[in-house]
Amino acid sequence: MQQEKQVLCKTVESLNSSGSFRVLVGVTGSVASLKLPALVDQLLQLPGVDVRVVTTEHAKHFYKHAEVAVKIYSDKDEWELWKERTDPVLHIELRRWADLLVIAPLDANTLGKISNGICDNLLTCVVRAWDTSRPLLFCPAMNTAMWLHPITAQQISRLKEFGYMEVPCISKKLVCGDEGLHNFPQTVAVPNDHLSVLPFNQEAPKMPRNVQTGKGAMAEVSTIISVVEQHLHKSKEKPEESQ
Ligand SMILES: Cc1cc2nc3c(=O)[nH]c(=O)nc-3n(C[C@H](O)[C@H](O)[C@H](O)COP(=O)(O)O)c2cc1C
Repeated sequence: MQQEKQVLCKTVESLNSSGSFRVLVGVTGSVASLKLPALVDQLLQLPGVDVRVVTTEHAKHFYKHAEVAVKIYSDKDEWELWKERTDPVLHIELRRWADLLVIAPLDANTLGKISNGICDNLLTCVVRAWDTSRPLLFCPAMNTAMWLHPITAQQISRLKEFGYMEVPCISKKLVCGDEGLHNFPQTVAVPNDHLSVLPFNQEAPKMPRNVQTGKGAMAEVSTIISVVEQHLHKSKEKPEESQ
């Protein structure tokens, strides 16, 4: 009995946390995942914030693991951790651990899955098990053609019905044709009319004739950080709810 109790108390050591506000970052297979190291670095600069990352397999193509300053969990960890009945289940431990989940970027594929309740990897299992009284932010990022498909709006409004909060994508001027390499740093961001909150007050530069406007790019990291900061402040106002 004693032994069973000890086993039941098994914890995931990498989830021991000194932070008072725990942010779990979900990252999916969009080129915007190359911003993951910057996003994590800036989150860690917020006072009292601790960060962990959950990645999909495809997202791994876009960032360098060594450049991400915190523990990254993937599907392999989920299945390596669980060997027998008394072992912790990683997606449940992660949803317990996190005060806030921010999926940045949220690609079209994972958007489709989570809006339909599909949970076939670590990230989508965390989302499926999410305590909806806690904030979940999602930052869509996709090719303009994907963005404009009518199913995108339907799926995004579904997520909002669940209480999840969108950090809207932005338009970028593309020099690259309609393939929409919208998230690469050499493209030039221009503000959207309805996104006047973005800290971007420069006049749009004159672009060559082959340039197109590409809606669907992930919000700037600075925008995501400021939304997380708002939730951090809210949690300080009600400390008992963030435990
Ligand atoms: C180079 C490259 C860039 C991609 N960029 C995006 C993107 O920005 N947004 C998107 O929705 N899908 C993008 N995709 C497609 C996704 O990676 C693909 O749908 C994948 O299955 C997503 O898997 P995941 O949601 O499990 O990460 C890209 C694919 C490639 C090869």
